[in-house]
Amino acid sequence: MVALVQTARFEGKAAVVTGGSRGIGAAVARRLAGEGAAVAIGYRGNKEAADALVAELASDGGRATAVRADAADPEQTRALIEQAVTEFGRLDVLVSCAGIEHFDALEKITPADFDRVFGVNTRGQLFAAQHAAAHMREGGRIVLTSSVSAARAVFGHTLYASSKAAVESMVLNLSAELGQKGITINAIAPGGTATDMAAEHGASYLHPELVGKMSMSEWAGIQVALKRLAEPSEVAAGYAFLASDDAAYMTGRTLQVDGGMF
Ligand SMILES: NC(=O)c1ccc[n+]([C@@H]2O[C@H](COP(=O)([O-])OP(=O)(O)OC[C@H]3O[C@@H](n4cnc5c(N)ncnc54)[C@H](OP(=O)(O)O)[C@@H]3O)[C@@H](O)[C@H]2O)c1
Repeated sequence: MVALVQTARFEGKAAVVTGGSRGIGAAVARRLAGEGAAVAIGYRGNKEAADALVAELASDGGRATAVRADAADPEQTRALIEQAVTEFGRLDVLVSCAGIEHFDALEKITPADFDRVFGVNTRGQLFAAQHAAAHMREGGRIVLTSSVSAARAVFGHTLYASSKAAVESMVLNLSAELGQKGITINAIAPGGTATDMAAEHGASYLHPELVGKMSMSEWAGIQVALKRLAEPSEVAAGYAFLASDDAAYMTGRTLQVDGGMF
């Protein structure tokens, strides 16, 4: 008989989750809090959802707080992290989930589009790592967010995909520096996951000849080994692994949690 193990890998630890008000980030906050972490949830505009999540975690016996912090502004991210350290007295884990989608053809991309997408998805994640690492001791864990899109060719997806590909190089290079302090840094590359982002942009992933002929779920039924999109909680399990001591000897890597996309 297999014994059931109830894990509490983050008991006594404190975490910051950017983009924690909805989607994958909210599922990560639930997972970390469920395993004992005190969690500071960063959000951009969705105060109601962030406050509701804090209330939910508190009613389940967890400790959480919500802080408005636009990931495009490193000073706001610094304030989010400093507030977590002030409230919880320490910082063990950063999970950076804040991200924005973009689809457009080359001739329509503007410098402002480039700055907006890279400002959140790439620059925002670099400075989140910088500010978090400044407060971490040996054993600190940083998990950033890439995407399976980083290594796929999709019409009109150049800005988003390249903003995420840069993150995979970022964690690889930062692993050398942060390893000197005993801090690990990795990324998760989610596949298609059932969130607001997927609902809003999923159809754009289809080849132009398939648009209108197939839903995102039907597409996943063909292109994904497990034949469906992920639930946010399934992707959150990957983040929790990289944030835990189970991944103590893993750094600089990007872990794909994609249901076997081909
Ligand atoms: N869903 C997928 O299929 C998929 C696949 C691969 C990678 N990803 C990546 O996974 C991450 C989470 O995606 P998701 O699907 O959960 O997205 P989502 O449902 O659109 O939720 C996005 C979250 O990020 C926050 N956010 C967006 N821009 C922000 C900013 N400038 N500053 C601070 N917070 C910001 C949002 O806050 P507000 O609620 O306050 O707006 C929200 O909490 C993103 O990095 C995304 O690129 C998603």
